[in-house]
Amino acid sequence: MAIEETEYMWMDGEFVKWEDAKVPILTHAIHYGTAVFEGIRAYPSKDNLGVFRLKEHISRLSESCKILPLEHKYSESELEQNILELLRKNQLKRSSYIRPLVYVGYGGIGLNFTGFPVNVSITAFPFGKYFSNPEIKVCISNWKRISDESMPVQAKASGNYLNSVLAKLDALRSGFDDAILLGKNSMVSEGTGENIFVVKDGEIATPPTTSSILVGITRDSVIQMARDMGMKIKEREISRIELYQADEVFFTGTAAEVTAIVEIDNRKIGTGKIGKITDRIRQAYADIVAGNNEKYLNWLTEVY
Ligand SMILES: Cc1ncc(COP(=O)(O)O)c(C=O)c1O
Repeated sequence: MAIEETEYMWMDGEFVKWEDAKVPILTHAIHYGTAVFEGIRAYPSKDNLGVFRLKEHISRLSESCKILPLEHKYSESELEQNILELLRKNQLKRSSYIRPLVYVGYGGIGLNFTGFPVNVSITAFPFGKYFSNPEIKVCISNWKRISDESMPVQAKASGNYLNSVLAKLDALRSGFDDAILLGKNSMVSEGTGENIFVVKDGEIATPPTTSSILVGITRDSVIQMARDMGMKIKEREISRIELYQADEVFFTGTAAEVTAIVEIDNRKIGTGKIGKITDRIRQAYADIVAGNNEKYLNWLTEVY
């Protein structure tokens, strides 16, 4: 996915020009995946730009740091302020993506990073749709989702993403838009960068936090919204076969937003078009992020 570069990035307390934001080749994180990050969106709303659930994202970044563990010198509120300042410095008014990254820097070679610097950067740039088609076709990956027996799945850790990259590239090369990964006992876990929801006979279900998922902030938003709309929604284990039998299946994620899955492993889901419940949730989410629903205005932090 090509990026429209902006003027500034934020690195370790300074705003630096995009082209000057460089790291040493022996940066520990490049070799061993020792980094944690966030993916956040900002949306234009009326005459402002609103960052969606900024506090929750920064709080998940802290949780990810705790799990590794990585210690850095910025408070959550400093990171939030620097994100807002970076958006202003780059004069971003359009739909944008924000990528804070905490990474083990250059301090030598070898696994033991004790005493190495822990660096922090923030990048922000214009960002439109993640999936060009609002109705996607996916496969079930033959890569299993990593489990917390060997990797800290609840951390949004860079090293974890090799699992997602393998599944995504294999899916694309086979002509699909994305992949669903199965976890423990071959139960459904999530997409490569999305949580998953299944609708059957009016009931919505999503895998629980014990199904090796990254606990998505969009997932949480959709659960709250669906309950507020009076829909029945449950967190429970989901089998692969339930996916094929579902009336509707959709992905949620900061990048993917709410995206309908209309085919899985070449089997049509429901009518093969976006379903009614998915469409209601997708529309409600679009209204909320654009600041058009008073009830959820506290999910947006104004930039200007
Ligand atoms: C593996 C994985 N699962 C789920 C999600 C969805 O999380 P969120 O809704 O917080 O973006 C993401 C994206 O961040 C992800 O990378």
